[in-house]
Amino acid sequence: MAVLEIKTAGDPILKKTAVEVTKIDKRIKRLLDDMADTMYATAGIGIAAPQVGVSVRAVVVDVDQKRYDLINPVITHREGSVVDTEGCLSCPDLFGDVERAEKIRVKYTTRFHKEKEIEAEGLLARCIQHEVDHLNGRLFIDIAKNITKGKKTETEAK
Ligand code: NI
Repeated sequence: MAVLEIKTAGDPILKKTAVEVTKIDKRIKRLLDDMADTMYATAGIGIAAPQVGVSVRAVVVDVDQKRYDLINPVITHREGSVVDTEGCLSCPDLFGDVERAEKIRVKYTTRFHKEKEIEAEGLLARCIQHEVDHLNGRLFIDIAKNITKGKKTETEAK
């Protein structure tokens, strides 16, 4: 377990499309645990592998004290639309308004090799959409409106 260095905007890895995880082995489990440590150490609620310099499709989110390790997440359904303020561990001190689907369904593989599909809404849905964007080389500042510096509102940094 380790707290890793977080790559910040401008690092080319954040612009790359991450590759699928093909084998869930010790290495990927350790990566997920290190990502979680890094996220908790920085008070984030979500983190994607490219943010710690590994361009693979793995995400950890923790909303309302429930941790999800999402391997190869795919959003299979989106419903509604809501605008709220976001931040990002890779964009320190920046906040902006992002339109996201209100409700989603996401399919993923667990660290125990199980295929799962869950429904999410509210902050969890927002967080998963933000992290899946990271896997596709997209940062929230690429799509946000009203970007401000150093003014944090209700949504925590991702
Ligand atoms: Ni982020």
